Amino acid sequence: MIILAVESSCDETAVALVKDGRTVLADCIASSVEMHKIYGGVVPEIASRKHIEVISSLADEALRQAGLERKDIDAVAVTYAPGLIGAVLVGVSFAKSVAYALGVPLIPVHHVRGHIAANYLAYPELEPPFLCLCVSGGTSLIVDVKGYTEMEIMGATRDDAAGECFDKIARVLGLGYPGGGPLDRAAQGGDDQRFTLPRVHIPDAPLDMSFSGLKTAMLNLIHKAEQKGETLPLSDLSASFSGAVSDELVPRTIAAAREKGYGKVAVVGGVAANSRIRRDLETACEKEGWSLYLPPLKLCGDNGAMIGSQAYYEYLAGTRGGTDLNAYANRDISQG
Ligand code: KG4
Repeated sequence: MIILAVESSCDETAVALVKDGRTVLADCIASSVEMHKIYGGVVPEIASRKHIEVISSLADEALRQAGLERKDIDAVAVTYAPGLIGAVLVGVSFAKSVAYALGVPLIPVHHVRGHIAANYLAYPELEPPFLCLCVSGGTSLIVDVKGYTEMEIMGATRDDAAGECFDKIARVLGLGYPGGGPLDRAAQGGDDQRFTLPRVHIPDAPLDMSFSGLKTAMLNLIHKAEQKGETLPLSDLSASFSGAVSDELVPRTIAAAREKGYGKVAVVGGVAANSRIRRDLETACEKEGWSLYLPPLKLCGDNGAMIGSQAYYEYLAGTRGGTDLNAYANRDISQG
């Protein structure tokens, strides 16, 4: 079954063709990130306009790359939630019209379910159940992936997402936007014990996370030094910060996996590219004797292939969208 998959929830417009949920035939991405860099963050209106400009030609390009024609498409899938509402609406409107014109089913896909499915593309042998840490610019979740379309949130951030925190701190440090990657590189070789940063424990919800206190502590450190005319060592500061974020994520993921007894842990989303988090997860899983699934960097960020993968399993489970399908800024992953 060949699915044309559309993703437009943030600043990447992506169209992919995926066969039977596991084989990528084409994966085309256009990003408007260069325009957002000027403003230090994504400007929703600009993102939406850029999606409109490129989405049709990306779909043509995907067909060309795969050597397929429109009649070869068996279904159209689209991210319908969560994301920037105007941006998601562009993809949903486009996908609805393509599905209607071709007379094929429309499959709505939850964006974070798509991120989880990135692992099915990277690891053909991986099947649920497994435990998944989902960390991106908009989400920080620990998810029990019970089945391809059955998921339960075990832990979530109470405030900012981990990626948002990386981006904010990187911007204040003058590392540009999006700042997670540059901050990660700045941390290489730095002393992660040089600065003492807070770790959070929420007594009634030990798997829930919080990043706002860490963000404030970092901002206070940086501003106090500025006021005194001091320059803080960038690599030690970045390493201490990365260590604090990792401490927020990794021990909770391990505790959740232990509770479930799965022995299989995956990590997805843009922040899954972080070298410190990857290293800490590798060490922890090795100690437990568990398998760790880390998708390659190109599948960590937003892409259409992951939507096409999840769409296949949603299709098998009977998920369909009509011409009345709407876009949603927020939607619980367990609702699909
Ligand atoms: O999944 P993604 O591409 O988009 C969302 O759906 O949010 O994630 C983007 C986020 C940004 O916040 C970016 O700074 C962060 O992923 N990121 C990183 C790294 N590479 C990207 N954060 C930490 N370390 C990295 N190496």
